[in-house]
Amino acid sequence: MTAIQSNTAAALTGKISVPGDKSISHRALMIGALAVGETTISGLLEGEDVLATAGAMQQLGAEIKQDGEVWRIFGRGIGGLIEPTAVLDLGNSGTAARLLMGVLAGHNLTATLTGDASLSSRPMERVMEPLRRIGADFVSRTGGLLPITVTGAGKYNGSALPAEETLNVASAQVKSAILLAGLNAAGDTIVIEPRPSRDHTEKMLAFFGADIISKQNEDGSRKITLKGQPEITGQKVSVPGDISSAAFPIVAALITPGSDVTLENIGINSLRAGLLDSLLEMGADLEIVNSRENAGEPVADIHVRSSVLKGATIPAARAPSMIDEYPILAIAAACADGTSVFEGIGELRFKESDRLEVMAEGLKDCGVETESTKDTLTVHGKNQPPEGGVTIASRLDHRIAMSYLVLGMVSKNPVAIDDGGPIETSFPGFTKLMNGLGANMETQE
Ligand code: S3P
Repeated sequence: MTAIQSNTAAALTGKISVPGDKSISHRALMIGALAVGETTISGLLEGEDVLATAGAMQQLGAEIKQDGEVWRIFGRGIGGLIEPTAVLDLGNSGTAARLLMGVLAGHNLTATLTGDASLSSRPMERVMEPLRRIGADFVSRTGGLLPITVTGAGKYNGSALPAEETLNVASAQVKSAILLAGLNAAGDTIVIEPRPSRDHTEKMLAFFGADIISKQNEDGSRKITLKGQPEITGQKVSVPGDISSAAFPIVAALITPGSDVTLENIGINSLRAGLLDSLLEMGADLEIVNSRENAGEPVADIHVRSSVLKGATIPAARAPSMIDEYPILAIAAACADGTSVFEGIGELRFKESDRLEVMAEGLKDCGVETESTKDTLTVHGKNQPPEGGVTIASRLDHRIAMSYLVLGMVSKNPVAIDDGGPIETSFPGFTKLMNGLGANMETQE
């Protein structure tokens, strides 16, 4: 374990880019491996989570080569992956595990998936349940936990069964698993989501040539229809910077006096960008400039200047579009003037750690008044730097680690985390980039 201490920062200034979008990177590797011909990916996030996906796709027979900054994948075609000879280890990544379960569910093979202590405690039944209905079979540890062995529907039926599934949780991972299994179904796969979640899978499948239609209903729900066994062919994918990673320098610049930072080439898909709406409501000085489109995804530069933030109530309806950003928004709320309430965030309890609990308790340790219920978090900001002066356990959770390091930049006393290792899953080079802007984070060997 490598501890990191964050001391008072100078004003943050500069122009930066952040590593590639994690969600899009996983999907580019998986869909590239299922397409016919060569896919090239530039801007791929070379973090541990995505490298776990790359390793798994290689074990499943895809040829993947790194060629300087570009990754090349020679796809095997839909249904063309081969049975791996060893267990697939997805490390810390819920997206890798859950999406891959969908991919494998549509194949004619048996494979076993495992992960680290955090991933092995996260619920997988939400994915297995719909995938059983499309013909796959699973053996899991008690409680639907990893390790899990999946036998794909192809072994029983030749292909997956066409499915119509209504999701009971707003989860892009569950939706994507069903769609990826449906790629090898003999017929249409329909997914209905009561509350729309990130649509990178739909966008990327369309970009690769699949026949997929997404329709928003009047009540806000969405119906996605994917035609089975499409001809998808290799593409050139360029991955934008990850808004979920950009969130850390954005909030750091907002709360560190005198800061002025520009982040270039950030993905601003509206189903991901709820943090920006929330920060604007809190009074943030944020400008979205140079908006454009890249491989079917909206991209822009974000200009941020330090601001006096005020407390806000963040409605449950916004949760899917900023689900990974609540820990860092809680840091912004802790420095703001007034009370913030985050509603409808029960899903935070099933992330890399129980983020609702870790933010409520960790902020209290830093001298911030908080309250929590099973699905809300209340943070009382006093428009002054919190006390700090503690070491927070990162609990194998990259976003918890980075959030508290940002708090240490402005707190009266330094904030440390006991283990910076998890940051490598999504944001390699985080401390170096932050220190380059004006932070003072020290790795303690
Ligand atoms: C992700 C979906 C979200 C998010 C995760 C990435 C994805 O999870 O928290 O970090 O890439 O599909 P859920 O779908 O479980 O909410």
